[in-house]
Amino acid sequence: MAKVKIAVIPGDGIGKEVIPEGIRALEAAGRKFGVEYEWTEFDWSCETYHKTGRMMPEDGIEQLKQFDAIYLGAVGYPGVPDHISLWGLLLPIRREFEQYVNLRPVRLFEGVPCPLAGKKPGDIDFYVVRENVEGEYSSVGGIQYEGTEHEVVSQQAIFTRRGTDRILRYAFDLAQSRPKKHLSSATKSNGIYHSMPWWDSRVAEMAKEYPEINVDQYHIDILTANFVRMPEHFDVVVGSNLFGDILSDLGPGCTGTIAIAPSANINPEKNFPSMFEPVHGSAPDIAGKGIANPLGTIWAGAMMMQHLGYDNIHDSLMEAMETVLREAKALTGDMGGSATTIELGKAVEEAIG
Ligand code: NAD
Ligand code: IPM
Ligand code: MN
Repeated sequence: MAKVKIAVIPGDGIGKEVIPEGIRALEAAGRKFGVEYEWTEFDWSCETYHKTGRMMPEDGIEQLKQFDAIYLGAVGYPGVPDHISLWGLLLPIRREFEQYVNLRPVRLFEGVPCPLAGKKPGDIDFYVVRENVEGEYSSVGGIQYEGTEHEVVSQQAIFTRRGTDRILRYAFDLAQSRPKKHLSSATKSNGIYHSMPWWDSRVAEMAKEYPEINVDQYHIDILTANFVRMPEHFDVVVGSNLFGDILSDLGPGCTGTIAIAPSANINPEKNFPSMFEPVHGSAPDIAGKGIANPLGTIWAGAMMMQHLGYDNIHDSLMEAMETVLREAKALTGDMGGSATTIELGKAVEEAIG
């Protein structure tokens, strides 16, 4: 029997509640298709930080190297400043394992109430391709004249040609594989003088290699408005780390709930494990209540298995999710229902059969 070795980091808040439901769904599909999992759980979290002063041990990255993939819930919780918790766990994993693609699908499902008037399933179905290791997420910068009225803070955004071209290449290839063959690039080249016009020029350069792809470029401000006004226009949307982050909450927001959205942090060369997680965070406002929507985590699990070559498990999870939503079997509060996390997880398990 095929066996996959997965590192599990439930993390903080509802991360601990949704990950078991992801595992439940993956186990069900594994039984069906003859795949066995070896789950190794790591308790790395803000609680660990309170006990040890670190989010993960010094050799944490080393420990993760031996796994086929990483399955993560959420990181960050009140009591530890967010930049400390995130730069102590989630962001180093993305960077050390060169998970430079953050692939975030956005889809409107039958059964999920859509906040945009007149939109039906099929109208919203696109990917946000987010650069995941450089750009605005940089530790370069600092504070000078600290504590005085002359305090100056600088924060550099770093864009390398290698880093930009490889994310654009991924996005172009993805667009090429889709029927619409449409790529939109998000920049802000009117206001940000150096990096953004340069990003546009890299897009224009690569577009020459993909004559079949219809390419457009938007300033991020109007792009956000267009996500709401005409989401059916989009197919593959590529952007920098920060713009991709914003667009990948906005997109799912347009489909009714961010809680359904998955995030695949991919190292395409497979030199290192890739990491799969929901887009959402630890949701301190509902943590401990057992009402979090586990579908983003389950969909992330499906993407994980697709990445590892198990299309059958991916498809089975997606079909089960679609059935549960269509039949409104056990919807959580964010989708207009009153089911618990476990009830929705079990409904998916049952639909997998
Ligand atoms: P959040 O995603 O945790 O929550 C935003 C809102 O969405 C909240 O009202 C929450 O209740 C709701 N929500 C989120 N997930 C849900 C789910 N599965 N089911 C139902 N409702 C859900 O974002 P935030 O409040 O900005 O961040 C909270 C903490 O999580 C912070 O520490 C932040 O840094 C961290 N965070 C971590 C990740 C990650 O680990 N990848 C992502 C985003 C935020
Ligand atoms: C996400 C999150 C993270 C990010 C935060 C928690 C650092 O918002 O995965 O989208 O910005 O990448
Ligand atoms: Mn985000």
